[in-house]
Amino acid sequence: MKIDFAKLQYQYQLYKTEVDEAIHKVLDNSNYIMGNEVRELEGNLQSFTGAKYAISCSSGTDALLLAMMALDIQPDDEIITTPFTFIATAETIAFLGAKPVFVDIDEKTYNIDTSKIEEKITSKTKAIMPVSLYGQPADIDAIEAIAKKHHLKVIVDGAQSFGSTFNGVSDSNLGDISTTSFFPAKPLGCFGDGGAVFTNNDELAEKIKSLRVHGQSKRYHHQYIGMGGRMDTIQCAIVDVKLKHYKKDLALRQEVASNYDELLKDKGLILPFVDNRATSAYAQYSVRVKNRDAVQANLKEQGIPTAVHYPMPLHLQEAFAYLGYKKGDFPISEVVSTEIMSLPMNPYLSGDEIWHIATHIE
Ligand SMILES: Cc1ncc(COP(=O)(O)O)c(C=O)c1O
Repeated sequence: MKIDFAKLQYQYQLYKTEVDEAIHKVLDNSNYIMGNEVRELEGNLQSFTGAKYAISCSSGTDALLLAMMALDIQPDDEIITTPFTFIATAETIAFLGAKPVFVDIDEKTYNIDTSKIEEKITSKTKAIMPVSLYGQPADIDAIEAIAKKHHLKVIVDGAQSFGSTFNGVSDSNLGDISTTSFFPAKPLGCFGDGGAVFTNNDELAEKIKSLRVHGQSKRYHHQYIGMGGRMDTIQCAIVDVKLKHYKKDLALRQEVASNYDELLKDKGLILPFVDNRATSAYAQYSVRVKNRDAVQANLKEQGIPTAVHYPMPLHLQEAFAYLGYKKGDFPISEVVSTEIMSLPMNPYLSGDEIWHIATHIE
């Protein structure tokens, strides 16, 4: 049996009629930039998440940049985040000249350990940027309490977690600004790059909309230094089709996860842990194994692909050497990065496929 990790082709075939129709409508109108489908998607994202504003943009990376630019993050400002994430989280902070300040992760959720945040706050700290890793929001109750006490902003990097919740509130509706990614392999993906920024704040929303079009206030009048950060009309049309099916797809992902939980519970692995205040979008189903290389090799032989998110925490990456961190600074991130392994995850894994995968994990 050959297993497909993300089943993107399968998903395209499933929604082909609707997706093709939506693409052809854009082609017929040839309104490729900021066409009607952009506003339609944004309206539907607002309804889905409950956020007052959903602003589509060119990627999850650019969504983070737009969020920080809207909050006027300046060189030398500090932003507290996790080292156990995709590089875009901290890269965008550094790209703006600000300093990523890392805090180790919680051993169960792999999200930022909120008990270690306060000790890292200085007079330069401007924001906390939790990441909803593998699809699960971080402990936003604790983060917002700290942010309030120290007058900090909260930017949620929800690139992996569209549709997840904390205390029943959508991940996109947490913090001052939340972001997501529509990268193809994300739970809600387009057919290229795309992303969105969410906020309930009128002024921030106006600024983000302007920043995404070169800081423009009206045509050829530029209020801010912005960027070319729009999402293509065609990509918006595609995401809008998938969004209509997303509640069902999300429920299927959660069902796949509970099937895995059941079949893997006696295998001596550390399985994903979801806080009882949260739901996960299960961008990944990631388990911890001591002998990862051997387990991966064995699965590969059986036609089962796996992935590692992420093999090296950011504080040990060459690009961040200038920050002066060293091995041992974030022990939990370091140990998890040597043991973590993601199993195939998508809404369409059959019971037989899940059983096949589980049986070959020894
Ligand atoms: C946590 C996190 N942040 C940001 C991004 C960047 O998103 P994009 O690839 O859409 O730029 C990703 C994408 O993998 C991510 O996983």
